[in-house]
Amino acid sequence: MRASLTAITEELQRLKAAGVRAVPVTEEGLRNLRAQIAARRTALPAAPKAAVPPAAEPAPVPRERSASAFTPAPTPAPKPAAPTVKEPPLPPAPAVVLPEGDKAARWAALRTMVLGDPVCQSHVRPGKQVVFGVGSIEARIMFVGEAPGAEEEVQGEPFVGPAGQLLTKMIQGMGLKREEVYIGNIMNWRPEMPGGNAQGQVGNRPPTEAEMRYCLPYLRAQIEVVNPVLLVALGKTAAEGLLGFHTFKALGDVRGRWHEFAGRPLMVTYHPSYILREPTNRKKRMIWEDLLQVMERAGLPVSDKQRGYFLGK
Ligand code: URA
Repeated sequence: MRASLTAITEELQRLKAAGVRAVPVTEEGLRNLRAQIAARRTALPAAPKAAVPPAAEPAPVPRERSASAFTPAPTPAPKPAAPTVKEPPLPPAPAVVLPEGDKAARWAALRTMVLGDPVCQSHVRPGKQVVFGVGSIEARIMFVGEAPGAEEEVQGEPFVGPAGQLLTKMIQGMGLKREEVYIGNIMNWRPEMPGGNAQGQVGNRPPTEAEMRYCLPYLRAQIEVVNPVLLVALGKTAAEGLLGFHTFKALGDVRGRWHEFAGRPLMVTYHPSYILREPTNRKKRMIWEDLLQVMERAGLPVSDKQRGYFLGK
């Protein structure tokens, strides 16, 4: 088993050195590969120590509760201890080359590329899925979250858990259907927590900078294909992924204002999971003010009353 995994790794490395960026894999081949990786994981007595110490990661937090840094903190939080990292370092971010063709063909090719990416696949437990963006490829608005959670990795679709249901309501409040916007994540897999079993893992953690860096080219490619008028980053982690790490301290520093990513306007707002945890009128009003700005810029109808009351115009 180990020998065949090593052979596959060597062959992929050889192909990569030869400039090949993607290899076709059948469903059955993937299933076998996942089973071998899972079997090998359970067979290993202990995680090998990484040769280079991994960068410290934030302490694990549940996905639906992962926005604890949304509120500007008066004093810096103590640095969390680095959890044990079992995985080897990620390879360099993929160079995504889209094929010629119309929008639908390019989107479908990109989706196949992401779902078949061996690195993404190797981070997904058996029976769970790599998650690619959904929605209209003609969307004017693209929402960007951080990473799939428990529901998302089962259904293979972003924002289908509790936070996703609230996001859908927010979109409806803007006068749109969920299918009329595009919804993606920076990460294509659910960041792994130590432990867990064949059934899955308990809890979530925010993606690391390295994980986001690996997946970001795939989000950029989705932006290139869909070509939305504007982007909306949901929460601090997504904002960090798009605006750059260490470019701001608290979400409050960047929320409710226009920024730029991939040559188009980017609004930063709260993650719906934060509103689920703090469903105060004040927070709801703040997120609604951000969404009204988005609606205005995307050319959606905003009543004079709403504009006057919420946007002070
Ligand atoms: N939170 C995210 O950021 N993305 C999802 O897909 C689900 C929850």
